[in-house]
Amino acid sequence: MVVGLILGGGVGLNYWGQAIFKLIARGLPVLSIYLGGEDHWSSVAAELKSLGVVELLEGGPTLLFGSRVLGKGQNGVVVRCRHEVAEGEWACKLRRRDASRPSLLWEGYVLRLANGVGVGPRLLTFSRNVIVMEEVTGSPLSGEAVDAALARRLLEQARALDRIGVSHNELARGGRHVLVRGGEPVIIDFESATLGGRRSNVLQLLNALVRDPVSLRDAARRYKVERSDDAFRELVELVVGRVGPRFSKP
Ligand SMILES: Nc1ncnc2c1ncn2[C@@H]1O[C@H](COP(=O)(O)OP(=O)(O)OP(=O)(O)O)[C@@H](O)[C@H]1O
Ligand SMILES: [Mg+2]
Repeated sequence: MVVGLILGGGVGLNYWGQAIFKLIARGLPVLSIYLGGEDHWSSVAAELKSLGVVELLEGGPTLLFGSRVLGKGQNGVVVRCRHEVAEGEWACKLRRRDASRPSLLWEGYVLRLANGVGVGPRLLTFSRNVIVMEEVTGSPLSGEAVDAALARRLLEQARALDRIGVSHNELARGGRHVLVRGGEPVIIDFESATLGGRRSNVLQLLNALVRDPVSLRDAARRYKVERSDDAFRELVELVVGRVGPRFSKP
């Protein structure tokens, strides 16, 4: 449902920020709970405008105090949005006023690197408090039955990140940072990622994919030391033989 938060312009930033705050308060009041009063909101609103976002829309799987959004975490609220040039619906991650992170800039930079190897939602643009990215219509991995093909695709994406030295660092936590769309995994939320370290995404995922990662210890150790294609393939074959029960729907 379109709530009608048109981010139109032609007015000064302060006025624009305040005007948006009032519109938001009326249309998607839940945003003012997470984005706060006019101070933080006027920054977010000014950034939305300069990034070319023209509309915020209600809709998505998460119900927040009676309003639907795409999702909510500790650091951001993710809202469906429209852009003045890029067609279709996008996902705008808006930094919460009480976020522990001072900005979303790092997440935006790392997502751009991940996109370079075909990983993560496609990034459109970003700023300090806003990331505009592809909307992923899917369910969290933790609620999906994981089959061999899905596990394989996910491990391949993790391997692609390992190769460019991007460690996501939150992939072991029960699949919350992987959305599954039509059987295809999409890794999201790169805010805790690090660059150039030795922490492997493939190894982080083992905990999320198999019930008894200990049984993969030797192959995991080999991959950790070698990081070779051979070691990766050996590990993948072991994992795909074991996936399933942990995340199967009841
Ligand atoms: N591109 C997207 N398309 C659709 N939904 C998304 C997208 N990105 C995030 N979401 C949804 O919004 C939720 C919160 O996003 P995200 O994890 O990036 O926020 P966060 O504040 O960093 O969360 P956390 O507290 O888990 O670190 C996700 O769990 C997911 O359900
Ligand atoms: Mg996060």
